[in-house]
Amino acid sequence: MLSLLLPAMLAVQAMALMEVYVPEMPVVALHGGDVTLNCSFSVATPFNLSDLTVFWQLTDTKRSVHGYREGHDQLVDQAESFANRTSLFPAQLGLGNTSLLLSRVVVADEGSYTCFVRVQDYGSAALLLQVAASYSKPVVTLEPESNLRPGDAVALTCVAYGGYPQADVIWQDGGGRNLTDNITTSLVANEKGLFSMTSVLTVVLEPNSTYSCRLINPLLGEEGYASVTITGQNIAFPPVALWVTIGLAVCLLVLLIALAAVCRRKIKESCEEARREAEEAKMLEEEESKTAMTLLKS
Ligand SMILES: *[C@@H]1O[C@H](CO)[C@@H](O)[C@H](O)[C@H]1NC(C)=O
Ligand SMILES: *[C@@H]1O[C@H](CO)[C@@H](O)[C@H](O)[C@H]1NC(C)=O
Ligand SMILES: *[C@@H]1O[C@H](CO)[C@@H](O)[C@H](O)[C@H]1NC(C)=O
Ligand SMILES: *[C@@H]1O[C@H](CO)[C@@H](O)[C@H](O)[C@H]1NC(C)=O
Ligand SMILES: *[C@@H]1O[C@H](CO)[C@@H](O)[C@H](O)[C@H]1NC(C)=O
Ligand SMILES: *[C@@H]1O[C@H](CO)[C@@H](O)[C@H](O)[C@H]1NC(C)=O
Ligand SMILES: *[C@@H]1O[C@H](CO)[C@@H](O)[C@H](O)[C@H]1NC(C)=O
Repeated sequence: MLSLLLPAMLAVQAMALMEVYVPEMPVVALHGGDVTLNCSFSVATPFNLSDLTVFWQLTDTKRSVHGYREGHDQLVDQAESFANRTSLFPAQLGLGNTSLLLSRVVVADEGSYTCFVRVQDYGSAALLLQVAASYSKPVVTLEPESNLRPGDAVALTCVAYGGYPQADVIWQDGGGRNLTDNITTSLVANEKGLFSMTSVLTVVLEPNSTYSCRLINPLLGEEGYASVTITGQNIAFPPVALWVTIGLAVCLLVLLIALAAVCRRKIKESCEEARREAEEAKMLEEEESKTAMTLLKS
């Protein structure tokens, strides 16, 4: 058994003599931008380009990203998602530079890429590509917005969108202390894979308080900031609501007095009218009875 395995292992080692170099740290690309995935090998002796074979592959799925053989790009088996977005640097190939230029980077490009190179010998190495996108400036809103009273629970919502990857959210009060209670953060991806982040902080209201939301994109080191200050204006009950209440009460009173005056006049008028009518009716009655009497006489 060993006698069978040993020559095979030696053969593999003999094939994998060539060193291939890629970045050890993940390569960060901006969404929508272009990125160069470095890959190189050391050439001991000059070689004929038609003897060079290069394959870029997705490490996990083995799908083809870009191929080069016998002096030409080989793209027949290229994964569709990379169509028209990849190229090598032809002038650099003879110098041992087999880097890949990837254009119009999307979130789905994130992952591990393997660079295979063969001249006489053979070697490969894998690198990690990470995609990043800047978030919009965060916006903080207050719910409910008005008629707040000290002691009410309010929800402060911090929203930012169009970013990648997930950002870190830090809520702080006016004194710069972290608020860690009652925070719920949610993440929604759009069709491009970019995130909208919503973080909701529930606080018990105190007058004169400031709440700020700080959003940090860990890959870009970018930071967005927004804050809301709750002043006497938001807290309505003492002055504003009281004046509104008094104002309404005064209006109501004036209205009632006016109504009463109108009613009294109306009542008086209708009383007089009734009396007049009654008198008229009496006179008419007397006349009629007189007529009747004359009729009886004749
Ligand atoms: C790619 O290689 C060049 C030249 O060696 C270097 O200047 C550059 O920083 C490398 N880029 C990355 C992302 O490693
Ligand atoms: C390979 O060549 C490209 C284009 O000149 C350059 O941007 C890149 O840094 C080179 N990479 C290495 C590892 O030399
Ligand atoms: C490279 O190889 C091709 C085909 O094998 C041959 O036609 C060409 O002459 C070679 N070029 C050099 C510079 O050796
Ligand atoms: C790539 O480019 C060719 C020629 O410009 C075009 O016919 C083809 O539709 C493109 N493919 C994609 C996936 O964009
Ligand atoms: C508070 O925020 C600072 C950054 O502003 C951070 O370094 C620290 O770890 C945070 N503390 C807690 C308890 O979250
Ligand atoms: C979290 O919010 C709930 C109401 O939404 C409140 O009852 C609770 O006291 C809050 N907890 C802390 C630690 O602030
Ligand atoms: C707190 O609010 C009152 C008015 O409601 C204001 O006069 C005072 O200056 C505020 N204090 C601080 C520290 O902002």
